[in-house]
Amino acid sequence: MPTSPLDELVAGVAEAMEEIAAADETRLAELRTEWLGRKAGRLTRLLRGLTDFAPDERRGIGARANQLKRELETALSARDAALRTSGAPAPDVDWTMPGREWWRGAVHPVTAVIDEICDVFRELGFTRVTGPEAETEEYNFTKLNISLNHPAADEHDTFYLQGGPPMGSGRALLLRTHTSPMQARTMERFTPPIRIVVPGLVYRRDAFDPSHAPAFEQIEGLAVDDGVTFVEFKAAIDFFVKRFFTADTAVRFRPSFFPFTEPSAEVDVQCQLCRGSGCTTCKQTGFLEIMGAGMVHPAVFEHCGIDAERYTGYAFGMGAARIAMLRHGIPDIRLLYQADMRFLDQFRGGR
Ligand code: DAH
Repeated sequence: MPTSPLDELVAGVAEAMEEIAAADETRLAELRTEWLGRKAGRLTRLLRGLTDFAPDERRGIGARANQLKRELETALSARDAALRTSGAPAPDVDWTMPGREWWRGAVHPVTAVIDEICDVFRELGFTRVTGPEAETEEYNFTKLNISLNHPAADEHDTFYLQGGPPMGSGRALLLRTHTSPMQARTMERFTPPIRIVVPGLVYRRDAFDPSHAPAFEQIEGLAVDDGVTFVEFKAAIDFFVKRFFTADTAVRFRPSFFPFTEPSAEVDVQCQLCRGSGCTTCKQTGFLEIMGAGMVHPAVFEHCGIDAERYTGYAFGMGAARIAMLRHGIPDIRLLYQADMRFLDQFRGGR
């Protein structure tokens, strides 16, 4: 019986395995070529010549040869890995150097407050919309029943944009001083029922100080429908305050004046810091103002093509940074607009 060509190889492989375990890089490459080389490797040749054997022999020899091949491959790569980690010269790395931190973005506390407020009003059926920051005098003032002679329209408060129609023409361009122009834009485009909240940046010629910023986020709200009453208005605001702050937060409506609402109110909430007992933040009053509001003035409806005989509505506007300050006990609005990561890092992960 002819000896299988395998028998010669098995002994050779056993020797090779021993040699591999001690080989240096050069020898390892030679052994790899000697056994597994694509052209003349000893195992490669055997596997390629399998067709010379009778079919019943072929299967046994093939299986065994493949097994030897795998064993060799495993030993070769194990030795290769060992050489790489041990004998290799140390890479030029200072292992004592602290790792680089991953920079991970997060939602700004003011953005988080805006999203949360809009979410609460969505439960009451309000749709979130946005509008242009460059507005005309007409939308920013006159359609809202603010005469261009009103102090609010005074150029000391308003950033006018150069190059457009002349100031006072109604068409002069400016940076909106409030989000209320979106009341007019929405009422002109849609018929009631209307329920919208409008977050966005507004601009005023104010210097930065602990409670003022020349650009800040407001959230406007508007509800117009058949039979909207002052009671519905109070209920909606009360719902909002209790959902956004805490269920036991007291709400107070104080009479006020805005040209675009009648009657007008300012809304106070129980101070979140002293819970109403009086502290420096609430100037010992126990309450903090969070928004201006009121029933939409009939003149505004008329300017926007809404039948003031049929419809009623309420509107409100609040400053998002101010509410973020209240919630987190932030003493100075400038902290929210300085992008100082030492400050902002405290608000990762939401509230
Ligand atoms: N637009 C006012 C402001 O920026 C805030 C405001 C007050 C908005 C009363 C309203 C409102 O919708 O009814 O100071």
